[in-house]
Amino acid sequence: MTEKLTDLPQWKALETHHAEFDRVNLRELFKTDPARAERYFAQAGDLSVDYSKQLVTDETLRLLLDLARERGVFELRDWMFRGEKINLTEDRAVLHVALRAPETERIEVDGADVVPEVHEVLHRMAAFSARVRGGEWTGATGKRIKTVVNIGIGGSDLGPAMAYEALKPYSMRDMQFRFVSNVDGADLYEATHDLDPAETLFIVSSKTFTTVETVTNATSAKKWLLAGLGGDESAVAKHFVAVSTNAEGVSAFGIDTANMFGFWDWVGGRYSYDSAIGLSLMIAIGPERFEEMLQGFHTMDEHFRTAPAEKNLPLLLGLIGIWYRDFWDAQTLAVLPYSHYLSKFTAYLQQLDMESNGKSTRRDGEPVEWQTGPVVWGTPGTNGQHAYYQLIHQGTLLIPADFIGFDRPIEGTDPFGQHDALMANFFAQTEALAFGKTREQVEGEGVPAAQVPHRIFRGNHPTTTVTARRLTPSVLGQLVALYEHKVFVQGAVWDIDSFDQWGVELGKVLAKKIVPELSSDAAPEHDSSTNAAIERYRADREP
Ligand code: F6P
Repeated sequence: MTEKLTDLPQWKALETHHAEFDRVNLRELFKTDPARAERYFAQAGDLSVDYSKQLVTDETLRLLLDLARERGVFELRDWMFRGEKINLTEDRAVLHVALRAPETERIEVDGADVVPEVHEVLHRMAAFSARVRGGEWTGATGKRIKTVVNIGIGGSDLGPAMAYEALKPYSMRDMQFRFVSNVDGADLYEATHDLDPAETLFIVSSKTFTTVETVTNATSAKKWLLAGLGGDESAVAKHFVAVSTNAEGVSAFGIDTANMFGFWDWVGGRYSYDSAIGLSLMIAIGPERFEEMLQGFHTMDEHFRTAPAEKNLPLLLGLIGIWYRDFWDAQTLAVLPYSHYLSKFTAYLQQLDMESNGKSTRRDGEPVEWQTGPVVWGTPGTNGQHAYYQLIHQGTLLIPADFIGFDRPIEGTDPFGQHDALMANFFAQTEALAFGKTREQVEGEGVPAAQVPHRIFRGNHPTTTVTARRLTPSVLGQLVALYEHKVFVQGAVWDIDSFDQWGVELGKVLAKKIVPELSSDAAPEHDSSTNAAIERYRADREP
């Protein structure tokens, strides 16, 4: 892939096509094609995806698919599934798909099949989860574990925290699950101040086991535990387990590696919650439900690997995203789940998408000359409708949005029958965004003349509608894998390494330098703004 993306004939064709697009709008597209909703619809597993309210035509999709073919997306996908080292800057395979591969599959990295190791860890996790859930694993004083606290950050927090929230109705309700990530001591304090250390299990989750936030929180948690249990270090073994790829680091921290659950360098942090990083989730929902979730992931993996391009959902959604990002200059993507249980889903996707595709260097080291990943944002409906939807409907920005909803609530979670009210809003919003309200319609309602311009909705705001019957562990796995592969497709077209994250390093290094400066009298050595801020902080710092 040597030719520059923007020099490709397929790219140029999309530019020309876009220039003709100001004459096209969704009202017209639906009017002239009664079968549009049927044609721009695809299914994978339990997910139904309607992309008919996107600003696309057959020609757009054809050109985008041509671009994907030209950029070698299918080849790169196959290399990923085969365990090739497609994470070039770290010289690593990218094999989160192996985490949910059935035991019968064979996937090799450097000539060794990784699937048996994956299942060996899953079996150990299942045995451990069963012991904690069943009360056989007790704390140092013999008390049953009532609260599990996961300590991790980024991919070692967002995935399990999101999935625990999403699948709470399937969880053991007589246990509590908490997630501590922020190095702000308030996070750990709030998570522990009302707990009995004798009944608390900490899972320290860190791929590298060097992340400052996690090591700091884990060290403080150990102090809290020992203070509460009389200081006997041997208690640690019953109250701390680790999830990591770094056995040495785990051991140095004081956790017995017999209580460590491993994973591998071919699992990226933001692609890891279906590895041992999901241990807290497995304890919450049980090994069977966790297995259902893995099967859901695998269903989408298989769809992405084998479905024809024209109906391949991660491919289509990835390409439609590129259409807006690079040809319409849309800077953001709103992901709007109409489910209270998906309240952390978009935050999870922020890391998945923005840490993967927030890059401006091509795989060969040259700068990109096109737009890459969007800002991903959003919160569950209907709350957003009363906050920021005004801007989506009538602001000056183009904001493509993904709407995610379910035909039925999770069993037992809607005792008062509010689901129709929720979903009526879900359907109403994508309709309003697409078709708006014309001047004639507003005037026809007898609106005072001065208000008419303010009450017009120009419409033509693109949305994708993703639905499933119900949010289950399997459906969650399918949803996450859909976005994982969508991000993959975009990175492949943009020719960036979606699997490294060098952009988070500089801040970490500078913070390390600043820590001792905050309690020192020596003049800080930064720019004048940073120096002044540090000096003001020192002057006001608690002694
Ligand atoms: O800040 C970047 C990052 O490396 C993420 O990619 C990762 O998910 C997170 O930090 C946590 O890393 P670890 O699991 O090694 O503690």
